[in-house]
Amino acid sequence: MITEPLMIQTQVADNGMSNGMVGQAITYEKIPTQIYADSKDASRAVAQEIADLIRSKQKEGKNCILGLATGSSPKTVYAQLIKMHREEGLSFRNVVSFNLDEYYPMQPDSIHSYVRFMREQLFDHVDMPKENYFIPDGTVPPAMINDFAQRYDNKINAMGGIDFQLLGIGGNGHIGFNEPGSLINSRTRLMTLDHSTRAATAMEFGGLHNVPKKAITMGVSTIMNAKRVVLLAWGERKATMIRSSVEGPVTELVPASYLQAHPNVAFFVDVRAASELTRVKTPWLVDTVEWNNSMIKKAVTHLSLTLDKPILKLTTKDYNDNGMSDMLAAHGSAYDININVFNQLQHTITGWPGGKPNADDTYRPERAHPAKKRVILFSPHPDDDIISMGGTFQRLVDQGHEVHVAYQTSGNIAVADDEAFRFIDFVVDYNQRFQIESPAAMKIFEDAKAFLKKKKDSEIDTPDVRYVKGLIRRGEAKATCRFVGTEHFHFLDMPFYETGTVQKKPIGTEDVKIIAELIEKVKPHQIYAAGDFADPHGTHKVCWDAIEGALSQLKHKNFMKDCWVWLYRGAWAEWDIHEIEMAVPMSPDQVMKKRMGIFKHQSQKDGVVFQGDDSREFWQRAEERNSGTAHLYDQLGLAEYEAMEAFVRWHF
Ligand code: F6R
Repeated sequence: MITEPLMIQTQVADNGMSNGMVGQAITYEKIPTQIYADSKDASRAVAQEIADLIRSKQKEGKNCILGLATGSSPKTVYAQLIKMHREEGLSFRNVVSFNLDEYYPMQPDSIHSYVRFMREQLFDHVDMPKENYFIPDGTVPPAMINDFAQRYDNKINAMGGIDFQLLGIGGNGHIGFNEPGSLINSRTRLMTLDHSTRAATAMEFGGLHNVPKKAITMGVSTIMNAKRVVLLAWGERKATMIRSSVEGPVTELVPASYLQAHPNVAFFVDVRAASELTRVKTPWLVDTVEWNNSMIKKAVTHLSLTLDKPILKLTTKDYNDNGMSDMLAAHGSAYDININVFNQLQHTITGWPGGKPNADDTYRPERAHPAKKRVILFSPHPDDDIISMGGTFQRLVDQGHEVHVAYQTSGNIAVADDEAFRFIDFVVDYNQRFQIESPAAMKIFEDAKAFLKKKKDSEIDTPDVRYVKGLIRRGEAKATCRFVGTEHFHFLDMPFYETGTVQKKPIGTEDVKIIAELIEKVKPHQIYAAGDFADPHGTHKVCWDAIEGALSQLKHKNFMKDCWVWLYRGAWAEWDIHEIEMAVPMSPDQVMKKRMGIFKHQSQKDGVVFQGDDSREFWQRAEERNSGTAHLYDQLGLAEYEAMEAFVRWHF
């Protein structure tokens, strides 16, 4: 929703993320929002603010009362605070903290408990006295919850209120676990969790059915009473809610929008979470912009889609009426601009993703030579290849290129226990039937079976069970490769992933080395990698970081001069239309074939362990995204295809 713009100073982070805007600009933003290039820079700035506050309170001989959040968003802030404690002697002796929430019911030592989270992420690594932190108690008997909640609020008040409240934001706009519908005057209480909130955390719990249905959360008014509030948001999946809460009306349907009324609030977001804000999405509506080619393409495609008019039919009046008259003034007539942008889009479309042999490639996205290319398709999980670029994968194979698929992680945590049990049963029965004697192998399967039989919800899988789950996904990936027609598959089992939980290890030199060795061995002309960083647990991002690390190590090698890198998306998000540099069309038959390829991943069908907050199955998401891209091209006035896969080229 676009609301009336305000003439106020645009808030711009001091790291240059300003879209080139200076001084007085129109802003649609009703919450000061700092946009950072990445979440690390933003987290550092937030940690610094917290550290400054702790120190200034120390000087005054006072306690510093922090309101703390869990989840993925604040982790780097906590890591940074621990670093400051170790390296700069930042002391937490005067810190008292109140956490926003805890699942209910929940034992504090469970791997899912926020008590355990906070200890692992912060408390156990700093000198904060144990009696100084408070977290809603997931063990209080139902009859005592109201009393407990009231005492929690009273304790905060008795401490003088929260000095600094850290928040994340849910995909549905929740703050704390104040789900949509929460009132502005709500206090600490027991809440029923939204389906989308439970779905977003299903993987951590090994399936939606294991996620608690309730939580005790600080209320909106408890949060609003904090003297300073800072909300963090990273990644595309937060973009819509950031826009709604920052630019939309204050509404109980988006609890974070209540913060518009807070006198000392700031949102710290990365560029991807900011991508739906007016100043990022349509900056020409906010201030003067530099009309370079990419800005023109962005504005013209946006205009065409907004007016529902093909590009070649846009008129001077359309440009003028929509804040783009200065573009016309600087770059010629609507007619010329229309044709220029139309041609650029036309040139992105190709049925020859590996280049068309013996054709003039001046205006094609890929080179004609060499006619037969070596290709590495990096797939973070065992099914991203087929989900995100199955049509292109098939074309590359059909057009005779040597396609290697490199599965970066085992994907083992996304296999349900009963799926693993089924396979183990099969092996055990098979071995018995044919009296196959292999005590070591049998032991693995028997142990895994015994573990699964008595596994508690909160337990991490044993290495044996993880092995079995990894094998299941490996078999599915191989089935897809056979189906598409390549035998060149590589299972990299990158070590950062192998923790058995959603929490991954940081990327290490070994991860990068594995990737670099494969690239060096294959010497590819094309690399395809997942540029889809909206996946909920950040695995795609880490997988890309490892590829980027390997590429920077190898970039001086001769073969790399011939290597082009293409990024794909699809499972969790799609490129914006103006960003696309190669669009590979699919016929209805090709769409159906891709669907069959995705079906090879049986363990990921019909109620996967991890659904995210998108309830569609992966094949549905892929088809809807691919037909959505084709539809956009059609709306812009280009040819109408059934579906399209889209790519952006990455440059060294
Ligand atoms: C956590 C909390 C939640 C999260 C929100 C975002 O204590 O109260 O509101 O901040 O769900 O979660 P992440 O950061 O995991 O995306």
